[in-house]
This record gives sequence, C-alpha cells and structure tokens, in this order.
Amino acid sequence: MSTQRGMAAVVAAVVAHVLLCHVAGEGVPAVIVFGDSTADTGNNNFIQTMARGNYPPYGRDFAGGVATGRFSNGRLAADFVSEALGLPPAVPAYLDPSRSIHQLASGVSFASAGTGLDNVTAQILSAMTLTQQIDHFRQYKEKLRWAKGEAAAHHIISQALYIFSVGTSDFLQNYLVFPIRGSEFTLPRYEAYLAGAAAEAVRAVHGLGGRRVKLAGLPPLGCLPVERTINPDRPGDCNEMYNMMALSFNARLKRLVGRLNWELPGAQLEYVDQYSILSAIIARPWEYGQSYPVMHLAS
Ligand SMILES: *[C@@H]1O[C@H](CO)[C@@H](O)[C@H](O)[C@H]1NC(C)=O
Repeated sequence: MSTQRGMAAVVAAVVAHVLLCHVAGEGVPAVIVFGDSTADTGNNNFIQTMARGNYPPYGRDFAGGVATGRFSNGRLAADFVSEALGLPPAVPAYLDPSRSIHQLASGVSFASAGTGLDNVTAQILSAMTLTQQIDHFRQYKEKLRWAKGEAAAHHIISQALYIFSVGTSDFLQNYLVFPIRGSEFTLPRYEAYLAGAAAEAVRAVHGLGGRRVKLAGLPPLGCLPVERTINPDRPGDCNEMYNMMALSFNARLKRLVGRLNWELPGAQLEYVDQYSILSAIIARPWEYGQSYPVMHLAS
C-alpha cells in the first residue's frame, strides 16, 4: 500500500517535470488549468455530479490528509508544477467559494472530473464541459481586471502557464463504453473530432490572451488500473489495443500543436508526452524507487 502511495506521488512529480520543460526560470505569474480528473483540484465539489473525489482514501497524503476533491492520494501534476515555479504548492479550484480573486491570481484550476473534449463525455457524469471551463476563465479574467487593474491582469493572463489535461474520458468513459459516438464516428473520425475540439479550446484561450500553453497527450490508456482489471484477454495486463488508440490520438495532437503554433500569433504551444514517461515508469518501476511492478494486479 505505502509503496503504491509513494508511486502515485512520483508519477505526478515526474509528469510535472515533463510539463515544466522549457518553462522554469522565465517568470511565470500563474498556472491556469483546464481538463478532467487529472487536473480538477476541487471544482466538482461545487456542482451536481457523481464524479467527486472529496472522501477518503482520496487525499490521505495531501497536507493534513484532506480529501480536497483531487482524484489522488496527494497532489496532482499541476500542483507540483506550481510549486516548482515558485508559486503556491497547490492550485486552488475556481468554484471554491472560500478563495478570493487575489488568491486565484497566482493560479487556478477550472477542470472538472469526468469531462472530455467531447461535450457528450461531460454529459455522462454531469461534469463541466471545456466550453464552460473557458467561460469561467473569461469571467476570471474580468474579475482579475477589477481586482488588480488592467496592467497587472494583462501581465498575469499573457505570461501565465496554461495546462490542458483532458481526453482520457472521451475514450474510456464514452467512445469505448456507450454506442452514442461509436455509431456516429469511426475511430479515426472520432479522433479528428476530438482534435478539432482541442483546437477550439486552445484558440479560445489564445483569443483571451493566453500564450504559453501545454497540451498534455493521453497516458497509456490500456495500462490504467481499471483497464488492466477488466482486460478481457489477459486480466491484469495492459490492454494493448487501448494503448494503440492513445498513441494514434497523440500523434494527431502533436500535428495539431505544430499547426496551431503557425496559425496563432505569439502562441507558444507545446505537446506534453505523458505517454512515454508513464510507460517508462510502468516498465521499469525500480528506476523510480519502486521494488515491484507498479499496479501489478495478476498474482
Ligand atoms: C460544445 O458545446 C458548445 C455550446 O454549448 C459549443 O460551442 C462547442 O462547439 C461544443 N463543442 C464541440 C466539440 O462540439
């Protein structure tokens, strides 16, 4: 148990390290986060949804052992990124009424567990869509202008580090489970549709003044604990078909990043390769402080 707990923290920290490449030391005033359960620091506590992470064992390794709504034993990658940039060690949730706009000025998460690039994914668990998250960002920008003044708000918005961490639920909670999208789209067409939605979200943030944007690719979907457990062919092992899907979608995201950097003036958009780093940890856990294979369920 305790080694698995330690491992989750290592994974978040290593992903944070990848997210940070090319950023550290450039004076980032805020970390601004969009996405799903990998990035929700507590927003879902304040909306009507089943997707909640505000009860034990969530948060048992968080400061004070508090279940904050993060879907983690401890902090999320965005929290480590914030700390590494000299900002607070935990990124507050936008919908948390106890946070003032002054506290949110150095970082905020608009993410909502269970959401996807596809609006239909968000509907399944009544999560906030990316469009709603960006509406909140627009509202946040207005509040910053009132609270900090035009120049300071402009500085924060234009120099902040934006992180998008979303897409896993579109496959695991939507396309591969429900026939709604499966009957409408072939897999390549659905991938193209999702990439279009990602482009729409990045353009919206750019239109509101965001420039430094990290777009996280999918993790090895087939190696997530739940997918290993229900793997029909080899229970306990990674589902290689799902991993192929993730790789295929990630290749599309990488091409998209290239196109958007060319299209959007001043954009510094980067693709974040979560797939490789997580695969490396799963394949060689001992190199990351683990003495036995991570999440190994078959015994
Ligand atoms: C999701 O819905 C909003 C409006 O509610 C729309 O503007 C947006 O384009 C939709 N996203 C996708 C990917 O269809």
